[in-house]
Amino acid sequence: MDHILTTERLALHPVTPRDHAGLLAHWTAGDVRRFLFDGAILSPEEITEAIEDSTRSFAAAGHGLWLIREKGGDDLIGTAGLRPLEDLGLEVFYSLAPAAWGRGYATEAARAVVEHALGPLGLPEVLAEVDEGNVASVAVVERLGMTAFESVPGLLGPMTRYRRSR
Ligand SMILES: CC(C)(COP(=O)(O)OP(=O)(O)OC[C@H]1O[C@@H](n2cnc3c(N)ncnc32)[C@H](O)[C@@H]1OP(=O)(O)O)[C@@H](O)C(=O)NCCC(=O)NCCS
Repeated sequence: MDHILTTERLALHPVTPRDHAGLLAHWTAGDVRRFLFDGAILSPEEITEAIEDSTRSFAAAGHGLWLIREKGGDDLIGTAGLRPLEDLGLEVFYSLAPAAWGRGYATEAARAVVEHALGPLGLPEVLAEVDEGNVASVAVVERLGMTAFESVPGLLGPMTRYRRSR
């Protein structure tokens, strides 16, 4: 199973060790890391760990970290995936390089991940946790049809938790 997801405009491939430099550059860019990692700058070792965790997760469970490219394009324009949210379940996450903002790509990629999770993977629900100040990301989860169910404190301020059930 290759775990590749395709949408109208995008191709999502599981991350591989060859993507290390591209992922490091993308995830450490200031506008990308602010809300994704509460501003933390991941080290090269943490990127290696993320790639290895993803490879194990795809093999065991069919999901992990996908890299987003335009169909037929080589440039990494973003990431999307599923990761544990404490012991509550799996949350969808996504990021785009700023040059790719404002075209609907994050919603398109995240929708493919959520539908893969609720469809072929058979998960009962997918969660999301978004900083209330991350207006662009709040708009993404709302376009995905996710429903807010609680607010929790975060490092950058309150965060809203969302869910979408099968
Ligand atoms: C969160 C993030 C991915 C949102 O990016 P985004 O580009 O605003 O979201 P989308 O790709 O879904 O694009 C939606 C916008 O594209 C517009 N758009 C333009 N052409 C479009 C098309 N053909 N189809 C759909 N939408 C289109 C929409 O109208 C919308 O614009 P608006 O915000 O002015 O209403 C981005 O801000 C980011 O990478 N942030 C850093 C990482 C992060 O915070 N991740 C979330 C933590 S989980």
